[in-house]
Amino acid sequence: MVDKSEEEKIAEAVSGEGMEDEKKTIKKIVKKKEGKTVSIADIPGVGPGAIAKLEAAGIYDLMGLAVLTPPSLAMTAGMGEAAARKAIQAARQMMDLGFSDGLAHEEKRKEIFFITTGSKNLDDLLGGKGVQTKAITEAFGAFGSGKTQLALSLAVGVQLPVEQGGANGKAVYIDTEGTFRPKRVREFADGLGANADKVLKNILVARAFNSDHQMLLLEKIAELIKDGEPIKLVIIDSLTAHFRAEYGGRGQLADRQQKLNKYLHNLMKIAEQFNLAVYVTNQVMSDPAQLFGDPTKAIGGNIVGHACTYRMYLRRGKKDSRVCKLIDSPDLPDNETVFMIETGGLRDVEV
Ligand code: GTP
Ligand code: MG
Repeated sequence: MVDKSEEEKIAEAVSGEGMEDEKKTIKKIVKKKEGKTVSIADIPGVGPGAIAKLEAAGIYDLMGLAVLTPPSLAMTAGMGEAAARKAIQAARQMMDLGFSDGLAHEEKRKEIFFITTGSKNLDDLLGGKGVQTKAITEAFGAFGSGKTQLALSLAVGVQLPVEQGGANGKAVYIDTEGTFRPKRVREFADGLGANADKVLKNILVARAFNSDHQMLLLEKIAELIKDGEPIKLVIIDSLTAHFRAEYGGRGQLADRQQKLNKYLHNLMKIAEQFNLAVYVTNQVMSDPAQLFGDPTKAIGGNIVGHACTYRMYLRRGKKDSRVCKLIDSPDLPDNETVFMIETGGLRDVEV
């Protein structure tokens, strides 16, 4: 039998096909490659030695290089700072980085695609089609508010064909708290009539044991993509738990925020570079300064608030429902909606 492409395997997983008959033919999805591709090797002054060092540091393409500063490239690739500056300039020129007009910007935004949450209400709250690529979507809320359930639903949703609200891609799940539950993925897959075994195979799970490990795993993601894994969604559940536990002391807050900032920056870089969606969960703590209204606020303060493109606040509502509020989004109104967590997935509630 001919080897199937990764995209074909994903299409098969969510179609539920191949459960009895492995050999059923499925629609072929061909990845479009426009024009000829340029790589780091095309940049003058960057030889094979430097390329190997850059790859070891998780930098594989022009975008990765173009966003570096000359000192960091010089250090990473073992080259002089003047040569590094020239290489970065060349990469930026090749990539056409710099100012572009609004129309060109609009054209670029067309590359963005969306991943359904499984609930129409939630998708609508997020602009109509769910979480989007080239952005970080954060869900914060108390324990049991549904952050992990939403993560699992997205990990299944991303595998759906584009016409059904997915991205025909795989998910990476960075689990910091050991709460990834294959059983729930199976239930969500069953809810869609998908092949649960195959759906589980398309979710690449890694347990992060501390914040350094959590950082390191981001580099692994770049490697996986370079090796041809069609990863379209990266989940970090939870973004802040390790940072919070490790930098608990009063005097450590600045260090924690700085590290968290760097981490979020790297996450955004991956989202943009590989046109994928990032979904992160975050806990809340009580804010003693708040006398009226909801006395909870998200961990990580402004650093997390500003770095995340879309912020959702989840809480329990009436009759076991969940209320989701969208806060401070760049292009959507502040609004809220209601959904239910059910065995077979997230479901809508009339609002
Ligand atoms: P923390 O990680 O503890 O901060 O919470 P979280 O926001 O990640 O909570 P999570 O998403 O894990 O939500 C757990 C809740 O989802 C449970 O309390 C249940 O109410 C609900 N839930 C989980 N599994 C099922 C299920 O199979 N059926 C139904 N109906 N509800 C479920
Ligand atoms: Mg959770």
